[in-house]
Amino acid sequence: MTIPLSNRLKACASFVPTGAVVADIGCDHGYLGIHLLVNGIAKSVIAADVNEQPLNSAVRNAEKYGVSDKMTFCLSDGTACIPRDFDTMVCAGMGADTMISILEAAPWLKDSSYTLILQCQSRRPELRRYLSQNSYAILEETLAEDGKFIYPVMRVRYGSASLLTPGQCHISPALLHSGSPLLREFFDRVRGGIRKTVEGLEHSGGERLATYKAILEEIDNMEEIVYGNRS
Ligand SMILES: C[S@@+](CC[C@H](N)C(=O)[O-])C[C@H]1O[C@@H](n2cnc3c(N)ncnc32)[C@H](O)[C@@H]1O
Repeated sequence: MTIPLSNRLKACASFVPTGAVVADIGCDHGYLGIHLLVNGIAKSVIAADVNEQPLNSAVRNAEKYGVSDKMTFCLSDGTACIPRDFDTMVCAGMGADTMISILEAAPWLKDSSYTLILQCQSRRPELRRYLSQNSYAILEETLAEDGKFIYPVMRVRYGSASLLTPGQCHISPALLHSGSPLLREFFDRVRGGIRKTVEGLEHSGGERLATYKAILEEIDNMEEIVYGNRS
């Protein structure tokens, strides 16, 4: 029986250390945890979701794949109602605001013994900024492609993080050095998004326009470092 796991979730799984005790926050169908157990990567999995319906589907799927004995199911907003005896937390498929509020509500995660694997769906620069301002270091970052989308996935740990520049909040140093074959395409997409913002601000001028122009320039410089000059 194959587990229907997206490339995005496979990339999250690739960052989970062997033997990990995993908390999958926002587990939905539970397939990530099931994959980690079926493949002998995780020792056990806490599957948590704030909504009852997805959690019930995780319970059913765990039974179907024969891993219920190694999974604990928790109805929980973020980490509020889960046991804390895990070492790896995965948060995937959520926007930056939700992830930041989950981290804010759990200051005890500011402990270098936890590995955090974060796959953010929206406002990613805001999440990277928050992480860097709160001493969460992005140790590794990679890209996964599903359909027409490219998703960054980060491995994060609390400790000595250097403050990211505005450009690095869009493409982190870890991603820059990832060697991902999707990186060049990702550069194009990030630049495309920022160019649109710059165009939108062009008529009003002001500080925001200058900020976004500087980010664009920083991103061009980063790309040149990795790939050399485009022209
Ligand atoms: C889009 S799904 C992503 C599911 C899976 N993690 C993935 O990446 O495919 C988001 C899930 O997160 C849950 N969720 C949203 N906010 C949450 C919160 N604050 N705490 C726990 N779960 C949450 C939702 O109920 C939903 O099942």
